[in-house]
Parts: sequence; structure tokens; C-alpha cells
Amino acid sequence: MSNIVILTGAGISAESGIETFRAETGLWAQHAVEDVATPEGFGRNPELVVEFYNARRAAAAAARPNVAHEALARLEAEHAGEVLVVTQNVDDLHERGGTRNLIHMHGAVGSALCAACDHRWDAPLVMVVGDPCPACNAPAARPDIVWFGEMPYQMERIFEALSRADIFVAIGTSGNVYPAAGFVAEAARVGAKTLEINLERSTVGSQFDDMLLGPATQTVPAWVNGILDGAK
Ligand code: OAD
Repeated sequence: MSNIVILTGAGISAESGIETFRAETGLWAQHAVEDVATPEGFGRNPELVVEFYNARRAAAAAARPNVAHEALARLEAEHAGEVLVVTQNVDDLHERGGTRNLIHMHGAVGSALCAACDHRWDAPLVMVVGDPCPACNAPAARPDIVWFGEMPYQMERIFEALSRADIFVAIGTSGNVYPAAGFVAEAARVGAKTLEINLERSTVGSQFDDMLLGPATQTVPAWVNGILDGAK
């Protein structure tokens, strides 16, 4: 009975129509990271940042989970060991695809966070700067996103799962952002088998035992079938 930890990135949602960050025409080619994805950027121009995440929320709402998201949900339901999906994505396609054991380590566009009291609530489709917090009433609502310079969520739980992992798989992530890009080294250190699934080898690709190249909608269902067949 193997425990599986799966790290996902923008590549798994690309075929659902969600833009990735580092493609030639991706989000970071259209927007300066320091303007829309840092606490300092939010301090300088909160309207721009809230608008950026309103657009991400609208894109997520218009998208549907694809067969790669659905395959991971099937793996969780049918595999005898534990399956944990750790996503860097802020869309909700994993949960809408049926995954339950899920960590949004970089936050979620569907959630709002009070910068004054840390209360969280479901974000409206269109957030407005100065929206009051439903708990403390401070006009301090912000998107519940982990910006550069902030600590990703649930790191303790992630490292605990990695310490028990037999298999670690990274899907559709470019390996540029830490701590997520360091998970493969940690998994290898504890003796897990490691697999990268991506369109092309990522920045940390050489650290994986195996590689499966191709679009996620083809590679992920094929890999899941292999794991579930192997257990029969
Ligand atoms: P990137 O945009 O950096 O990388 C996307 C990866 O997906 C690349 O390695 C592509 O080769 C791959 N890819 C694209 N289409 C694919 C497909 N159809 N099938 C399989 N793979 C595909 O996105 P992330 O690695 O997720 O953080 O970015 C990590 C973090 O950087 C994000 O969470 C975000 C960003 O800045 C914050 O905003 C805090």
C-alpha cells in the first residue's frame, strides 16, 4: 500500500483554458510579478492587485476541470494508500474535479482574507478594495493568495506527508518557485520514487527518477491507470 504525494502547477489547468505563468505569453509576461503578487505591490496599488485576482477568479469560474484533474480524483478514491494533492494553483479545478485530500499551498481565488484579523470567507466573484471583513468589520479584505515574500500554507502538513511518501509526482510545474520546487529533493531524501509529468523537463527535472512528457490530459490519466492496474 503506497502513499502518494502529488504536487501540481499551472500546467495541469492549462488545457482547461487557464493561463500559465511562465509561458512566453503567460501571466508573468503580461504583468510585473512585483506589482500584482507581492505585499508591497498590494500596498502601492491595491486596486490593480484586486483587479488581477478578480480576473483570475472569473477565468477559474469559466473553466471546467479536465480529465487530468478527474484522474487524480479517481486515484484518490480507488488507490488503497493515501493520496495527497498539493497544488500551487489558485483555481478550484481540483476540488470541482472531485479531489478531497487537497492543500492549496499558494492560497485560492475563491477565498478572501482579512489583513486585520486573519478571518477567511468565500470571496465574492468581484472583490472591491476596502470590502469590510464580516468578522471584525475592518475595511481590510484582500485576496487569500500567498504572495512572494509570504509563507506558503500548511507546510508542516506537507512535509509530514512527504516524510511518509512512497511515490512523489510533480505535474505541470516549472520548478522555479520554492519551497515547492524543493519537494522532489525532500521526497528523494526519504526514499520515495519520484516522477515528473510535464510538457517539457522542468528546471529541477534532473532530480527526478523518471519523466513522463506530454500534455497532462494524456499523461496523467495514463499514469493513474498504470498505478491502479498495478495494484490489481
Ligand atoms: P509555470 O507557469 O511556471 O509553469 C507551468 C508548467 O506547466 C511549465 O513547466 C510547462 O511546461 C507546463 N505545462 C504547460 N502546459 C502543460 C500541459 N498541457 N500539460 C503538462 N504540463 C504543461 O507555473 P507553476 O510552476 O505552477 O505563484 O508556477 C509556480 C508558481 O509561480 C505559481 O503558483 C505562482 C507563480 O508565480 C504565486 O503566484 C505565488
